[in-house]
This record gives sequence, C-alpha cells and structure tokens, in this order.
Amino acid sequence: MEITTITPENRSVINGFLMKHWYSTDMAVCGEKIDMTRLEGLAVFSQGEITALLTYRIKPDHICEIISLDSLIENQGTATKLLQKVFDIARTCSCKAVKVMTTNDNLKAIGFYQKRGFDMIKLHYNSVENSRKIKPEIPFLGEYGIPLRHELEFVYDLKNPK
Ligand SMILES: CC(C)(COP(=O)(O)OP(=O)(O)OC[C@H]1O[C@@H](n2cnc3c(N)ncnc32)[C@H](O)[C@@H]1OP(=O)(O)O)[C@@H](O)C(=O)NCCC(=O)NCCS
Repeated sequence: MEITTITPENRSVINGFLMKHWYSTDMAVCGEKIDMTRLEGLAVFSQGEITALLTYRIKPDHICEIISLDSLIENQGTATKLLQKVFDIARTCSCKAVKVMTTNDNLKAIGFYQKRGFDMIKLHYNSVENSRKIKPEIPFLGEYGIPLRHELEFVYDLKNPK
C-alpha cells in the first residue's frame, strides 16, 4: 500500500472525495469552521481512486490535529498505517501530541482511537449544536441511529506513548 501526500496536482480529486464523504469541504469542529481544501493530508489510491484519506493541521502550540480520517476498504490496516505515518510527520515537526475529535455516535472510531493509544480527554457536551449552525448539513441522527450531539476529544501523547 502506497501513501501519497496531498499535492497541488491531486488537490481537486481530494476535494471531490471530501465533498462526497463530509457533505462539503468544510469541517465543523466544536463550532469552528475548518476549510479542508487548505489542509495537509495523506491519501491511499487504488486504480486511480482514493480509498483512504487523512487530513491534518499542525498548530502553533505543537499539536497535530487530525481533521478527517476515512478508509473505504475497512479492516485491512489502512487507517492504522495512515495514523502511523501522521505520527511520524508530527514527530518530525516537533509536535508533542496528536489530537482528534469524534462524535458520540461513532462507536467504531471511539474504539479504534483508544486501541491505538489515544486517550479520551474531554467531552464537548452538546458541541454539535454549535457545529450545526455553521454546517447545517450535519444530520441529527448519526451512526447506529444514535442522536448526534457531542464531540469527544482524544489525544495521543507522542512523548509518552501508551
Ligand atoms: C474508523 C475507520 C477510519 C477505520 O479504518 P480501517 O481502515 O478499517 O482501520 P484498520 O483496518 O486500520 O483497523 C480496523 C480493524 O481492522 C483490523 N484489521 C487490520 N488489518 C486486518 C487484516 N489484515 N485482517 C483483518 N482485520 C484487520 C484491526 O485490528 C482493527 O480492529 P480493532 O480496531 O478492533 O483493532 C473507518 O472505519 C472509517 O473510515 N470510518 C468512517 C469515517 C470515520 O468515522 N472516521 C473517524 C472519525 S474522524
């Protein structure tokens, strides 16, 4: 499996993928609107099509924040490999931690991140309500028919990995 970085050449294909999977190229995180067309990222292509994508940004406080992670061909270790790659990038950029948010309905992601050394550090209670104000496309019912209401914050400590 080959991991490619986002480049000006593949950016429009990446934007099309984001549009399809996140309703728009804007991501709402705790009420903040993030333009994903400006993010760095890692993609996996198969026969010219994107099969997995991770986007991230590195913040001035030396936190690498994953903004989106999608793997279309699941249970083959693809997302784990993308995570490992972003950990390497974050270390190279002298980051102290990698942060990611997921919503309360996303039971698979909640398990996935914890099994890979992320710690659940914060519940952003009712934060999806604020996010919905800037991204009305966010549905009210999430995965497994669970009401989509809160965001959970996970952190991977790069200095003291679990
Ligand atoms: C959550 C998500 C990113 C996981 O992607 P994935 O590519 O399936 O992840 P992996 O394959 O690395 O790991 C998933 C499972 O497959 C298992 N697996 C890995 N390689 C395997 C193999 N060769 N054979 C069988 N199982 C395997 C892993 O052990 C893992 O199980 P575990 O979490 O119980 O340990 C994916 O389900 C997804 O895109 N969901 C929708 C979007 C989303 O919710 N994103 C996260 C929030 S931002």
